[in-house]
Amino acid sequence: MKVTLKNIGKKYEGREEFTLKDINLEIEEKDFCVILGPSGCGKTTLLRMIAGLNSITEGDLLFNNKRMNKVAPKDRDIAMVFQSYALYPHMTVYENMAFSLTMRKERKKLIDERVREAAKVLQIEDYLYSKPSDISGGQRQRVALGRAMVRNPKVFLMDEPLSNLDAKLREHMRVELVRLHKQLGTTSIYVTHDQTEAMTMASKIVLMNEGKIQQAGRPDEFYNKPANIFVAKFIGSPTMNILKGTMEDGKFVSKNKLMVITPSEEDSIKLKSYEGRNVSVGIRPERFESGGEFGDTFKALVEVVEMLGKEKILYAKMADGHELVISTPGHYKYNEGETHSFGFDIEAIHFFDTESGERIN
Ligand SMILES: Nc1ncnc2c1ncn2[C@@H]1O[C@H](COP(=O)(O)OP(=O)(O)OP(=O)(O)O)[C@@H](O)[C@H]1O
Ligand SMILES: [Mg+2]
Repeated sequence: MKVTLKNIGKKYEGREEFTLKDINLEIEEKDFCVILGPSGCGKTTLLRMIAGLNSITEGDLLFNNKRMNKVAPKDRDIAMVFQSYALYPHMTVYENMAFSLTMRKERKKLIDERVREAAKVLQIEDYLYSKPSDISGGQRQRVALGRAMVRNPKVFLMDEPLSNLDAKLREHMRVELVRLHKQLGTTSIYVTHDQTEAMTMASKIVLMNEGKIQQAGRPDEFYNKPANIFVAKFIGSPTMNILKGTMEDGKFVSKNKLMVITPSEEDSIKLKSYEGRNVSVGIRPERFESGGEFGDTFKALVEVVEMLGKEKILYAKMADGHELVISTPGHYKYNEGETHSFGFDIEAIHFFDTESGERIN
């Protein structure tokens, strides 16, 4: 099912400000849409509005072009999985999964088929007659998913369903959820504040901040073309380096004058109107060139080296004290206390308007 949000806004009763404002979004049939953003930005509020658990203050919510604003949650053909997926402790896994269908007084045979089918997909067939207390956290999370699956919803809504699991299990469940989505093809909307989950699972990411959409698009677009400095710093680990400066004679000159960058031909055109004005550059830690024999270079003192195996993270300082994070392949030789020259992959430089924070190139 296609889900469309048109100029959606939300103001909670008793609050001065809108919690969400001007939310415009199209989630296509079979999308796995991840709503990402820092705590308090309004992710849960948005998901609950789609589910019908929160009222919509302004704008339109459409399912396959049909207005849903006033449709009761039970008539929306959706299923929601929450972070705290409380299972009924006195019921078996089977009974937990069957619960919503039993309540709907569906036929026993249909219930049995649905539960077994979901259990098979989720690989929990062996635990159908166990109690929640007798199975692991990951298995319980799968039961919670199964409970939503048996309803054959048109849309899956998930609110941080993996955040209670340990790192290893979360990684595993991430892959399982993607596989499950490929298998079922159900339109899914998934809320998280974890950028890794978003980058690895989403067909479409919606990054929010302070109740507004900052950027919506494919994961690679977030990495390669962040729409503004907020997005640039939110996606990617370690975080993108941002340096302030000005455009002088077509070149970026950092505030400390220690870094000069000659933009690519294509970027030069977009930067023309910024001559003499404040511009910030963004450089991802992994896009510095070691050695830097060609083109622009700068010097930095390597203060701390973090060895992660396949990569080395350098915490470096320029002469004026400005700090940079540089990632290099793990086998490169860098020692703490050494000063090195670095260059740039010029194609990977992001230019932002310092005042508005918006992307220029
Ligand atoms: N029922 C409510 N009444 C009034 N304000 C609310 C209500 N629920 C949430 N808010 C406020 O709306 C804002 C957004 O909250 P929301 O729970 O949607 O954020 P979130 O992005 O899901 O955060 P988190 O990542 O911490 O779960 C917060 O400022 C919150 O205090
Ligand atoms: Mg939330």
